[in-house]
Amino acid sequence: MGGARCQEGGSEQESMEGGCSRVDDAHDKIDSEAELAALRKVLIRDVVIQENPGVKLDDVVGLSSAKEMLKNIALIALRFPQLSRSTRSVLLYGPPGSGKTMFAKSLKNEFNPFFAYVQLSELGTNLPPRGNRKSHVREIFKLAQENSPAIIVFDEIDELGSNESKYPGSLDVETEFLYHMDHLPEGKGNVVLIGITNSPWKLRGSLLARMNRRIYFPLPDQSSRESILKASVEDSSQAGSHELSQDDFVELTKITEGYSGSELKILCRDASMEIVRAATQATYFRRVREGEFEKFVPSTSNDENAEELVGGLMSLGASQVLLPSVTRTQFESALKASKRSTSKEDIIRYEQFTTARGFNGA
Ligand SMILES: Nc1ncnc2c1ncn2[C@@H]1O[C@H](COP(=O)(O)OP(=O)(O)OP(=O)(O)O)[C@@H](O)[C@H]1O
Ligand SMILES: [Mg+2]
Repeated sequence: MGGARCQEGGSEQESMEGGCSRVDDAHDKIDSEAELAALRKVLIRDVVIQENPGVKLDDVVGLSSAKEMLKNIALIALRFPQLSRSTRSVLLYGPPGSGKTMFAKSLKNEFNPFFAYVQLSELGTNLPPRGNRKSHVREIFKLAQENSPAIIVFDEIDELGSNESKYPGSLDVETEFLYHMDHLPEGKGNVVLIGITNSPWKLRGSLLARMNRRIYFPLPDQSSRESILKASVEDSSQAGSHELSQDDFVELTKITEGYSGSELKILCRDASMEIVRAATQATYFRRVREGEFEKFVPSTSNDENAEELVGGLMSLGASQVLLPSVTRTQFESALKASKRSTSKEDIIRYEQFTTARGFNGA
C-alpha cells in the first residue's frame, strides 16, 4: 500500500524536511482515457465554480484581518507571482457558521481566478471512479495548474490529514495531497490552496506545517452581530419589513452573544417564519388599502378593527394577503427555540490553538 510517506508529528520544521514523495499503486491509477475523461467532466461540472458566486468579500461582516491577509496573499500569488515566493497555502479554521466557506467563495468574485471548491467528505463517493480518492486529488491539482492562476478550496480538510479519519487508506490520500502541495509551481502558473476546518488540532503535523498561514475565524463580536442581524432581518422578512428599533437591535446583540453568523441568520429566518405561522392560523383579519387594492392583514380577535373570515387564510387569494412586519415579539419566540452550537470550552480551545499556531482573523 502507498509509497514513501511524509514525516508525521515532530516539529513543523521536521515535518517539512525533504518534501513529500509518493509511489503510485497500480490500483490508484486511472488506466483508461474514458475513465479520466469521465472524472474530468464531473470535476468541471461539480467542483469547478464557473460563475461568480453572488457573495462578495464586502458581504462578509467583520473579519478585517482575515480580509487583509487573504487579499495580500491572493493578490501577490495570483497577479504578481514574480514579486515574491509568498504564502500560497492558507488554513481557515473556526467554529461552525463563522463564515469560512462564504469568505473563501467570495475570493472568486474578488480575483476571478480558476476556482475549484472541494468538499473533502465527498471525494471518493461523488466522483468517478468511485473510491479512488488518490486519483481525485491528483486530477484536482492538475486541473488547477493547467488553468492557473487558480484557487483551490479544500473544505473539511480534517477529513484528509486527521488522525481520526474514517476513510480507509486516508494516509495514502494525504501523502498524495502533500506531494502535490510540495510541487505547486512557483511563479508562473500559480495556485493558492485554501484549507478549511472546524478542528485544526486534528490535522497531522505534516499537513499543518504546510498550511503556512492559519487564520482563526472567531464568532462575531457585538458590532458584527448587529450588522449580521440587520442584514439578515432585511433579507428574511417579507419585502424587508420589520419594526425593530436601534434599541431592539442592541438588545438582541446582547442576548445573542456566542451565536455564530449562521445562527443569527437562522434566528432572523425563524422570527420571520413566526409571522407566516401566525398567518396560517389566523381567523381574524384587518382590511387595509394598498394603492388601489384592498388587502387583508392577519390579526387576532383582540383587534377591534379586525373581522372574522370563515376559512381564514385559505379563503383569500395570494395577492390579497399582506403580512405584518417582524417585531420583537417574533424574535422572542424564535430565541426560545434557538441554540448556540459553540461552547465556551470550544472557544477556549480555538483561542489556545491560535496563540500557539495561528492568527486571529477578526
Ligand atoms: N461574518 C459573516 N458575515 C456575514 N454573514 C455571515 C458571517 N458568518 C456567517 N454568516 C452567514 O452564515 C452563513 C453560513 O456561513 P458559512 O457557511 O460560511 O460558515 P462556515 O464557517 O463555513 O461554517 P461550517 O464550519 O459549519 O462549514 C453564511 O452564508 C452567511 O449567511
Ligand atoms: Mg463551511
